[in-house]
Amino acid sequence: MNGMTTLHRTDDWFLRPAARDWANSSPTPGARAFHQSLPGYAPTPLVTLPALAAELAVRAVLVKDESSRLGLPAFKVLGASWAIARVIAERTGASTELSSLRRAAALSRLRLVTATDWNHGRAVARMASLLRLAATVFVPAMMSQGTADAIAAEGADVVRTEADYDGAVATAARFADEDPRRELIQDTAWDGYEQVPAWVVEGYDTMLDEVDEQLGRVPDLVAIPVGVGSLAQAVVAHYRRSRVSHPAMLSVEPDTAACVLGSLVTGAPVSVSTGATVMAGLNCGTVSTLAWPVLRDGCDAAVAVTDTAALQAVSDLGHLGVSSGPSGAAALAGLRAALAIPNRRTALGVDSTSTVLLLSTEGNLR
Ligand SMILES: Cc1ncc(COP(=O)(O)O)c(C=O)c1O
Repeated sequence: MNGMTTLHRTDDWFLRPAARDWANSSPTPGARAFHQSLPGYAPTPLVTLPALAAELAVRAVLVKDESSRLGLPAFKVLGASWAIARVIAERTGASTELSSLRRAAALSRLRLVTATDWNHGRAVARMASLLRLAATVFVPAMMSQGTADAIAAEGADVVRTEADYDGAVATAARFADEDPRRELIQDTAWDGYEQVPAWVVEGYDTMLDEVDEQLGRVPDLVAIPVGVGSLAQAVVAHYRRSRVSHPAMLSVEPDTAACVLGSLVTGAPVSVSTGATVMAGLNCGTVSTLAWPVLRDGCDAAVAVTDTAALQAVSDLGHLGVSSGPSGAAALAGLRAALAIPNRRTALGVDSTSTVLLLSTEGNLR
């Protein structure tokens, strides 16, 4: 879709400490008030885990626990809901106030279309049902039947493709293009498709806004689970907006789908061919074109982790009382891979006085 080259092998680590000094002037997103108006909105917990702080030899480890977000088990609904609200508002002239959106949606006869490896598609389907809109969700061949059924249970038409995630995205885009009443709600950007993913990224900022209130200061290091890089784009933009006190940013991906790491190492966006991984939400082969320049300039470090390390992190977080699925717990696996090695630790500016923020982006459904 992006005409990128495919990379067949990557290193498992990338570092560019100068990225910490990069600042951006993107406007502060205005999605929080909309999220607050949605049924069931509450800030998700920020949990302090002293046992992990002791293990990682830092002052504090704080886990943003996204296991229950607006009634769904992942943060993704923050992006999908705001993008859908903005699309309906643009198309109909309605405001993003919920009752106005509902009225406008009812008259619009719109069908929301997306592709997903799991959480985003379920979130789009949930929002479609809230606004009484039809939805079609394309899924990769490898998706388990249980996952596809959970998306269908939200009321969406689920179409299984014969492709991987990138192929499912291309199929969804073609399907949406065939009819002006179909609107593609995708959480990744490519040349010519940027507005909706930009709104998705704005929606993610609500999570970081909550962290600002809960923590009352900027952390020293943020560990981010990464698929196409849109969440990481939101995090880097958020923490690099201020001109003071920039935390280090650690991107964490499966070693079988490390497109951001591969792109950072190469210095240009590359696609990687993906296979099976327990980190289903991170199983993406191509970095978003909107995320790429932000990550290239503002992300300090990237690491790839194995399924075994992610599953160990799921189990360890579970024992510490945090429900975290493999895609969310990958952040802990990445922290371990980064902080256990003295050179990496020093380069990230981490020591025994540091506060580390771990984004546990989904709950453990097993
Ligand atoms: C649970 C979870 N964490 C992290 C991500 C990564 O987000 P992005 O694809 O924007 O990098 C995803 C993506 O679907 C996800 O489902």
